[in-house]
Amino acid sequence: MRKPKLLVIKALDLNFMEQLEEHFELIRHDLSDTPAQLIDQHGQEIVAAITHSGTGFKSEWLIHLPNLRLIANNGVGLDAIDLQACAEHGVAVTNTPEVLDDDVADLAMGLLISAFRNIHGGHQFVKKGLWPTRSFPLTRSLKNKTLGIVGLGRIGQAIATRAEAFGMRIAYHNRNRKADSPYPYFENLTELAAASDALMLSCPGGPATEHIINREVLQALGSEGWVVNIARGSVIDEQALFHALNNNLIAGAALDVFHHEPDIDEHFLTNPKVLLSPHHASATRETRYAMAELVMHNLLNFAQDQPLITPARP
Ligand code: 8YV
Repeated sequence: MRKPKLLVIKALDLNFMEQLEEHFELIRHDLSDTPAQLIDQHGQEIVAAITHSGTGFKSEWLIHLPNLRLIANNGVGLDAIDLQACAEHGVAVTNTPEVLDDDVADLAMGLLISAFRNIHGGHQFVKKGLWPTRSFPLTRSLKNKTLGIVGLGRIGQAIATRAEAFGMRIAYHNRNRKADSPYPYFENLTELAAASDALMLSCPGGPATEHIINREVLQALGSEGWVVNIARGSVIDEQALFHALNNNLIAGAALDVFHHEPDIDEHFLTNPKVLLSPHHASATRETRYAMAELVMHNLLNFAQDQPLITPARP
C-alpha cells in the first residue's frame, strides 16, 4: 500500500524524520529548488504538513491541498497559521504546549535578572580590562519590585512562580481575569505598566496583541522600568520602543523576539539600553527534543487514526 504524503515545510531532526518515513512519503518542500512545482505535483495526495512557528503555513496553499487534514507545528505559538481558515478547510492543527514552559520561563528570568543586575554590562566591563581603572556602577535589586506580566498563560505562570522566588511582587494583564490567580489583575495595560518596575511579555502573538506595547504603555512604565519580551516581536511597536529608549522614557528592553527575525532593525544593534537574544527561549537540547518528539507523535497518531495529542482550538 502506498504511504500517505507528508509535506515537510520545516524538518525535525533526522531520527524523528526517519520514524515518520515509516508511515509517510516525505515531500521535502524544505529541500526543494522548485517548491511551487512540488505542491502542483503532489497537492492532491498530501494529507499532512509539518512546519514550525517561525515559518507557519501560507493560507493560500489550502486550496491547492484539498486532502490536507493536519498541520503539525513545531512550536507553541500559532500566530503564523490562520486557524480559522484551516478549520474552514477541515484541517486540524497541533502545537507543542507545556513541554517548553520551564525553559522559556528560565530564559525570561535570565533576561530580567540581567536587565536589573547588568550581568551583560559587567561581562563587557571585565573583558575590556576596565575593572582595575574604576568601579562598576551599582545595579538594582529584584526583591520587592513589581513584575507586570502581560499574558498569564502557562508560560506567564511559570515566570510568576520563579519571580516570586526572587522576592518580586506579581501583577498581570490577560485577555480575561484568571479566577484562580492570587495576583492583582489589571484590565488596563497602561495602568499595569504604571504599577510595574518591569513588564514581562508572555502573551500570544497575532492581531489581538499587535503593538499593544505602545508609546503610552512605555511612558507609563517609566524611566526606571524595563520591558522584557519572550512572546512575539509584533507585541511591541518597535518605533515607539526606540522613541522611549532614546528619550529615557524607560530604562531598557531585554528582547528575545523581534518584528523581523533574524534581520532585526539596526537600531537595536547600536542602542546601549537593549539586551538582545536570538529567539532562543525554548532552545535547549532537552526542550527542542521534547517539542520535536511531540510533533512526531501527533503525526504518528494521525497516521494510525488515533486522537491528536495537542490539537489547537481556532
Ligand atoms: C521557536 C517559539 O521559535 O514555540 C514557539 O512558539 O517561538 C519557539 O519555540 C520555534 O517554533 C521552534 O521551532
